[in-house]
Amino acid sequence: MELPNYQEARIRNKKYKTLKYKIEDGFKGKYQNKTYFLKTYGCQMNEHDSENIKAMLEELGFIETKDYMSADLIMLNTCSIRENAHNKAFGMLGRCKNLKEKRPNLIVGLCGCMAQEEGVVKEIMQKYHWLNFVMGTHNLYRLPYILDQSIELNTQQIEVFSKEGDLIEEIPVKRDTGYKAWVNIIYGCDKFCTYCIVPYTRGGERSRKKEDIIAEIKQLAELGYKEVTLLGQNVNAYGKDLYTDYGLGELLADIAQMKIPRITFMTSHPWDFTDKMIEVIAQNKNILPYIHLPLQSGSNRILKLMGRRYTKESYLELFDKMKKKIPSVSISTDIIVGFPGETDQDFQNTLDVVNYCKYDNAFTFIYSPRENTPAAKLKDNVSQEEKENRLHILNNTVNKYFLENNMKLIGSVEDVLVEGLSEKKKDNYYGYTRTKKLVNFTGENIKAGDIVKVEITEAKTWSLDGKLSK
Ligand code: 5AD
Ligand code: SF4
Repeated sequence: MELPNYQEARIRNKKYKTLKYKIEDGFKGKYQNKTYFLKTYGCQMNEHDSENIKAMLEELGFIETKDYMSADLIMLNTCSIRENAHNKAFGMLGRCKNLKEKRPNLIVGLCGCMAQEEGVVKEIMQKYHWLNFVMGTHNLYRLPYILDQSIELNTQQIEVFSKEGDLIEEIPVKRDTGYKAWVNIIYGCDKFCTYCIVPYTRGGERSRKKEDIIAEIKQLAELGYKEVTLLGQNVNAYGKDLYTDYGLGELLADIAQMKIPRITFMTSHPWDFTDKMIEVIAQNKNILPYIHLPLQSGSNRILKLMGRRYTKESYLELFDKMKKKIPSVSISTDIIVGFPGETDQDFQNTLDVVNYCKYDNAFTFIYSPRENTPAAKLKDNVSQEEKENRLHILNNTVNKYFLENNMKLIGSVEDVLVEGLSEKKKDNYYGYTRTKKLVNFTGENIKAGDIVKVEITEAKTWSLDGKLSK
């Protein structure tokens, strides 16, 4: 049994090796024809981890089912970022418990960020004896063994490494589509924003070697993939731990030479967004003119308490530079309201930045205290009602700009990467523009993965309507 420990999780040592995934032959196909149901919570990093989990399970012989009630194995890939993600996972665990009472052979496992939390694992050990296994984020590649041990020994297996350990290449992956792919470029985060649990759940920053990334993307290009998203908790830090003169700007420039029509990345931090990166985005047509630039707060006082290492002024300077150098750029953001001690004036400062930036998209949250983070120890005198009120005002403000920006596109012809047929309106397709705006449109003889020209006919707050352009 190996349990999470926050003190160890805080330590950053930059020593790690790159190793290759391997699975012993005896494991392959061992669970032939058993079914699994995998539920994923949280961010793209988790979504991509789930693609690895699926491939590993299928190597063992498992077959995916979308019906958890009938599955032989249920796995929850969890998220810790806010309380509601937590609650959802525990809610699902409750349903699993009921199922297991009826079907004692059911295997249930929990992995992802919640598994890295001391409090969660303690609670599981006290109250969830029926749960078969818990596995952390740093030992994803050990899934076949942990799962197998829990079945063979019929005892609860808990294996969570507090320290990130080595970087494992060539974990199998089962991608959802043949046209869109996530590619990890860096794991972990060393920023330690005071509200955020990620540096504890995902460990220190570790970049993949550029050759490994480029080889993976070359293969995707050969397979005909249309869009590649470079993934990391903080992609701007790419390369700092490996190279002296090779960062995200250089990596993007190299990847732009490959035959991938759409290249994008997430998530970036305003702190080390270099001129080189802006230049490379501006110069390469196949790097999407879309940047996610989390603001979090427009108040310098709160930014300092958050440990964000930039000011409202330096953020706006960067924002202006992006808009000037990449004229077609679309910028989205993340904003937290109700950070401990946030005053009306602090909130107003956030609204001022929003009114200046007029974002194309924004993800807005009420601050949620996370176990062991420095901000969770701050005195919080903002009432829940006030927090909700601020979120409401903020949402109305950002929504106004989404619509305004979308209206400007009416009459234009946009390149759209088709995702498929729309669920809401029969015979309508949907897809995304180069600035990641959702478009519902009419047309014929189109399939998922095509890039087509669509004339925009109508604008809504969160989407556009259009028709295939002749
Ligand atoms: N409470 C609320 N929102 C949070 N985020 C991260 N941690 C918290 C928290 N404790 C938000 C940030 C981040 C996004 C992924 O989630 O805005 O950019
Ligand atoms: Fe959630 Fe962060 Fe973990 Fe992603 S990395 S799953 S957002 S806690």
